[in-house]
Amino acid sequence: SPNSPDTITIDGPAGAGKSTLGALLAQRLGYLYFDTGIMYRALTWAALRRQLDLSDADALAGLAQDLAIDIAPPTQDDGRQFTVLIDNTDATWELRSASVEKSVSQVARHPAVRTIMRARQRAIGMRGQVVMVGRDIGTIVLPEARLKVYLEASLHARAARRAAELQARGLAADTGAIEADVARRDALDQHVMGRSPDALVLNNDDLSPEAEVDAIVAQLRAQG
Ligand code: DC
Repeated sequence: SPNSPDTITIDGPAGAGKSTLGALLAQRLGYLYFDTGIMYRALTWAALRRQLDLSDADALAGLAQDLAIDIAPPTQDDGRQFTVLIDNTDATWELRSASVEKSVSQVARHPAVRTIMRARQRAIGMRGQVVMVGRDIGTIVLPEARLKVYLEASLHARAARRAAELQARGLAADTGAIEADVARRDALDQHVMGRSPDALVLNNDDLSPEAEVDAIVAQLRAQG
């Protein structure tokens, strides 16, 4: 419809390949790529730094409202997709640290936190020309998006991708432990995950990122 923002949403579980697909699609379309997981990770990093009680919804919501999260083009050639500045500090890799990884679900589950994050995300998406990636973007943040994609992949394939990412950064990767961790995160994220009934469902086990982009572009053309 002419009233829907020119935004494409990509939702799906951890490790399904949303960020690879999102960045590639944004590049193809000349859109901004925006990964909403970064915002929950940034909030978690800042809360740990301030030694906030992660069960204190009011304190976390206050921080969610005020925290300056700036996403900029890469400032270092170390494999990053972009640079994330929080409180003017480069926290790009710290957002992927074990401590953030361990606590982010606990922070993201507070309804007061989600309300604020969703409003911030919606404001970005409504500007249009954005590929926005997350868990609840097509269902709650931007239900009127021009196209919604739901990306799924088997637990095994998602764990294998995570292991390859760690190895690429020179870190140890125990596939069994990683599979257990991905399953644990699925359970924790379950309540925020949503698949919109009108989403284009793609399965990453059978498709390359390029083939996924082709399928999305074909769908956009078909919609006119
Ligand atoms: O996609 P990711 O691994 O960077 O997400 C980090 C955490 O944030 C994960 O626990 C799920 C949560 N998240 C969320 O609740 N809603 C979103 N739109 C994006 C991420």
